[in-house]
Amino acid sequence: MRELLSEMHRWMSAYMKSFYSADEEVQRGILIKETHTGYVTVNCVELAKALNFPPHDVELAEIIGLFHDVGRFRQYSIYKTFNDADSEDHADLGIKVIAELDFFKKLDAADYALVEFAIQQHNKKVIAPTDDARKILFAKVIRDADKLDIYRVLEPFLAQENADKMPKFIKGVERAEISPDFVEKFVRGEQVDYREIRTNGDRKIVRLMWIYDVNFAWTMRKIVERGYIEKIVQNLPADEKIAAGVKLLREHVAEVIGSL
Ligand SMILES: [Fe+2]
Repeated sequence: MRELLSEMHRWMSAYMKSFYSADEEVQRGILIKETHTGYVTVNCVELAKALNFPPHDVELAEIIGLFHDVGRFRQYSIYKTFNDADSEDHADLGIKVIAELDFFKKLDAADYALVEFAIQQHNKKVIAPTDDARKILFAKVIRDADKLDIYRVLEPFLAQENADKMPKFIKGVERAEISPDFVEKFVRGEQVDYREIRTNGDRKIVRLMWIYDVNFAWTMRKIVERGYIEKIVQNLPADEKIAAGVKLLREHVAEVIGSL
């Protein structure tokens, strides 16, 4: 398996570089995805080890991390956007790319199905129901590993004065306020639909609401240690309702870290 993993890393690295572009905006987007892929792979391995996965399962988690966003590159080359709503779901596209790769056939059928499921479910609002507890577990690992890194990616753009430095494929960055329906849902601790994001403030609320979807205490500790929640909260408008939502969120964080 280690040899197969080396082959996979070599292929993925060359594949991502094949999308490099002389267009500065395109190049910036591709580099963000390449760096993200590296960090998410590391996060998957670290989380799998923290959960005491056996070596074979740590390797499966590594494969899932490495390929979770493989569909992003084809998505960009076809549609010139990273916006799923304007193109195609990048996780569904990713499993199509993987199905074309001969070296994936070296995985046994159960491992292949597991990798496929976790990648396809990494970006869905909720994980599709299945009786297979292993599939659910690996989907939870990639969802946590991915979220943890997206907090890193987002950090430099939190202050409104930096919002215009965001890649152009991210919409609605010029407005700092939070839409009223997003405020209401945040106060109640209810999930919001990322497709309804209209402003940069809405985007921050969606990222904060992800905290309710973090699966493992390991991930929550990393999020807290790295100060990601505080940095988002500091960049929210001062508002009584928002403060109530933040209080609820902090109670949830304390509970997850204390209980698992
Ligand atoms: Fe993704």
